[in-house]
Amino acid sequence: VQEIPPRYEELGLPSLLEDVRLDDPSFYSAQPYDVFAQLRADAPVHWYEPASFWVLSTHADVQFAAKNPQLFSSAGGVMIDEIAHPDRAAQRVGGEGEVLLRTDPPRHAELRAIAAPAFTQPAIRVLAERIRAIAAERLDRVAADGGVVDFVEAVSQPIPMEVVCLLLGLPIADATFLKERALAQTSGHGADDGEAFTAALERRRELEQYFDEHLEQRRRSPQDDLITVLAHAEPEGDPMSRMTRVLFCLDLLIAGTETTDVSISGGALLLAQHPDQRDRIAADLGRARNSVEEMLRYISPAVAMARTVTEEVTVRDTVMKPGDRVALLFMSANHDEAVWDEPDSFDIDRPNAIRHMAFGAGPHVCIGAGLARLELTIVLEELLARVPQLTLAGDPQPLQSTLVNGLATLPVRAA
Ligand code: HEM
Repeated sequence: VQEIPPRYEELGLPSLLEDVRLDDPSFYSAQPYDVFAQLRADAPVHWYEPASFWVLSTHADVQFAAKNPQLFSSAGGVMIDEIAHPDRAAQRVGGEGEVLLRTDPPRHAELRAIAAPAFTQPAIRVLAERIRAIAAERLDRVAADGGVVDFVEAVSQPIPMEVVCLLLGLPIADATFLKERALAQTSGHGADDGEAFTAALERRRELEQYFDEHLEQRRRSPQDDLITVLAHAEPEGDPMSRMTRVLFCLDLLIAGTETTDVSISGGALLLAQHPDQRDRIAADLGRARNSVEEMLRYISPAVAMARTVTEEVTVRDTVMKPGDRVALLFMSANHDEAVWDEPDSFDIDRPNAIRHMAFGAGPHVCIGAGLARLELTIVLEELLARVPQLTLAGDPQPLQSTLVNGLATLPVRAA
């Protein structure tokens, strides 16, 4: 049993891991599947000395940590940039509110129960036709444009934001305002970029004010939407503060948009890169659902989430101490050769694609997973119906983030 943390240099790590910056967005945007494979093989429980956190990279270990919140708490920061810069989590939350994503059981279950009815299959199904109309409208614009279009700006960014507006009960006309401010939240996830972080905080305060006003309006005149539910909810335990209601809205907005955005654009890129597989889906739309699972597995839109150790725990042969920070690398876990054959290749017929943890695992497993799956399936169907020959028209630019794996731009042509 290692008494840890050992010094980085004492670990005698293989060369590939020596220069790796696990708190640097450019590491993830380079799609470092070779480094992940080496981590899983040689250092599955890895102490990342430069920013002092543990890194779990196998499917089994990431799942273990995600499913044991009594050992691995979400309260001390849930993102890599927060465990690398511990003051950031508190600054983001603003101190006075609770956030679903950052709350441990049993309080977590009380808060989650408030929003859960809005995410059941019947509740989501009601939105299907409106989601289809949103997707069709955006894709028709691409089909009608003869030139080069940035698929991210034209399709993958607007659709999830408009869907979240539908879900919450916000005017679709506000989607652009909300998108600009929500996007700043993930672009603030650079390693040392304090300026971007401060700018993102300012945008965040504007969103807080926006939601505070909408919640107040629904308190006075209730409607049949999720904002009204959040405005009036009384959880079983402690009451919900005004700020907790605001942060609930904000959490849904941010968690529900950029992850879905990168799944749509990343999925479109995979189809353009694998035209044979694209044609097989188009010929048999029954393949769409498994194709979406394989896209989620392959892309792994959420790079990693973080936890803080609550009591001494041994993972493999390594002891972690209370207070230690841990990164759960979903992006590596979803390419684990212990679960999938040839994990770094894209295969829409992969029988066990759905074992991916793109939506996390355990009590914090994505509450919007059903909605995201529905949305991605609809967008895939409409894409194949309206722009079946989507082709690349330039080099896609990756997003620079330690939170989201995806594209900042995707230049395409309809035919
Ligand atoms: C492809 C799209 C999506 C991906 C990849 C994704 C991924 C994730 C992951 C990995 C978690 C777990 C976080 C953790 O363990 O700390 C999570 C939680 C969450 N997601 Fe998603 N998500 C997606 C779409 C959505 C949508 C559409 C919504 C809502 C509109 C949503 C709302 C949430 C919320 C509120 C949580 C926190 C749940 C909790 O803490 O109990 N997500 N998501």
